[in-house]
Amino acid sequence: MNKEVVLSGIRPTGFLHLGNYFGAMRNYVRMQDEYNCYFFVANWHSLTTHPDTKELQSAVHRVIAENVACGLDPNKVSLYVQSDVPEIAELYLYLNMLAYKGELEKTVTFKEKVRLNPENVNAGLLTYPVLQAADILIHRAVKVPVGKDQEQHLEMARNFAQRFNHRYGDVLPEPYAFNYGGELIKILSLDGNGKMSKSENQMNTLYLADTDDMLRKKIMKAKTAEAPAEPNSVKPDFIENLFTLMSLVSTPDTLEKFNTDFNNCVIRYGDMKKQLAEDMIAFVAPIREKAADIQNDKALLSSIIKQGAEKARESAAATLKEVRQAIGMNY
Ligand code: TRP
Repeated sequence: MNKEVVLSGIRPTGFLHLGNYFGAMRNYVRMQDEYNCYFFVANWHSLTTHPDTKELQSAVHRVIAENVACGLDPNKVSLYVQSDVPEIAELYLYLNMLAYKGELEKTVTFKEKVRLNPENVNAGLLTYPVLQAADILIHRAVKVPVGKDQEQHLEMARNFAQRFNHRYGDVLPEPYAFNYGGELIKILSLDGNGKMSKSENQMNTLYLADTDDMLRKKIMKAKTAEAPAEPNSVKPDFIENLFTLMSLVSTPDTLEKFNTDFNNCVIRYGDMKKQLAEDMIAFVAPIREKAADIQNDKALLSSIIKQGAEKARESAAATLKEVRQAIGMNY
């Protein structure tokens, strides 16, 4: 029986945080038995915005190590580095001929990056969605677990696949965003200003690499308010966020206790944060330690990366063969 192909990419620009864990990685782990999974580190994509590669290698290693530490099994999924699969670059080349300058310029993420970094508007940045389409289509993946901000890129990938199929014959299935298990969990930063971020607002984001002391410090200064004046009040979103975090790492009894206290207007946020900090540490510390062990074991790391690349190249080569045949580039 052929399992459906699931694929997602992770940019190695920054540190993985709790939002990444509960919004993405935990779901990847759940998918690995049910689907034929490809997860990769998008290091080519990172060059579009981060031309300085001093820290790229260690960032790639960290992403691989953290994903394995979170429970991705390199024997079940293909966990690889994008640049190890040159077939992607060739497909990107073909797809570039099917992508229009106008539609690329209109992409929301492109416009945002131009705004943030007007002095480095390179062609790679413009064609970022084309490379992403190649990442997906090279394995004929149909389910792509990504957040809302990536939906436009997926729509573009579907358009490129359609144009390819229309022009050269049916080779590439259309991929869709995949929201595993319903609602996506949103985790806000601890000051309530937007979501947790891989690289910004670091003192209000909980990272999988944070030390126990750092986790404690960040949680203890999370934004709170006075206890509510009315029983059963609606929680402001930064308070709701603390309850969300507690629901993810604490026992149901603990959560229940603070919920009841909130509803009875007797909640003590200092106590709640103390409890949350300890439960968070119990959750994060084993992952952090396992990731550090893997990252320090260069032989293990390179065998994981090699194994992933082999699996990915096999699948990529099979697609590329059909792509070349369809175009007539098989001499
Ligand atoms: N663009 C994605 C992001 O910013 C990363 C990515 C690159 C990706 N290639 C992909 C995601 C392919 C899904 C599928 O997070």
